[in-house]
Amino acid sequence: MDAIEVLKTRRSVREFRSEPVPRKIIEDIIDCGRLAATANNLQPWEFVVATEREMLRRLAEITDYGKFIAQAGACVVVLCKETKYYLEDGSAATENILLAARAHGLGACWVAGDKKQYAASVCSLVGAPRGYKLVSLIPIGYPVETPEPIKRPVSELLHWEKY
Ligand SMILES: Cc1cc2nc3c(=O)[nH]c(=O)nc-3n(C[C@H](O)[C@H](O)[C@H](O)COP(=O)(O)O)c2cc1C
Repeated sequence: MDAIEVLKTRRSVREFRSEPVPRKIIEDIIDCGRLAATANNLQPWEFVVATEREMLRRLAEITDYGKFIAQAGACVVVLCKETKYYLEDGSAATENILLAARAHGLGACWVAGDKKQYAASVCSLVGAPRGYKLVSLIPIGYPVETPEPIKRPVSELLHWEKY
């Protein structure tokens, strides 16, 4: 798949087959995450990858709309040191991870972290140091479903020269 095809076919996947995701693939996905754009090149991110079923279940339980984390092959917990642009940086890394997962034939979904009441519980469960914020949780696995895109058309949102 070329980059444009990856971008155009990525969808949030919330149902996974049971087989594990090889570590080498996860490492490559994290490699793509750490190469994201980042304000002042601060790279404030850290990535905790949960693969043990019990940990995946506990993360799933803590979230409100992330119960499917329990069935994933792995879950990347994106943490950022609380810098001025931590949320933008962590979000850029999150999107890179979603796209890299797609490029590897995997499904993934952005599960909210920042601003959620459960953010502190997730940070404490994964042992995040003080001063780190939870940006997102990204369950990854071999997809069962291939959801259809529900997107606004380009003709509705593209404004040449002025709005
Ligand atoms: C900041 C953010 C938080 C999100 N949180 C959740 C979530 O907690 N649970 C979930 O199932 N999906 C979550 N999503 C995924 C969106 O629901 C999804 O991206 C949207 O419905 C568009 O679908 P698509 O990703 O297939 O294009 C989140 C996405 C973003 C960007």
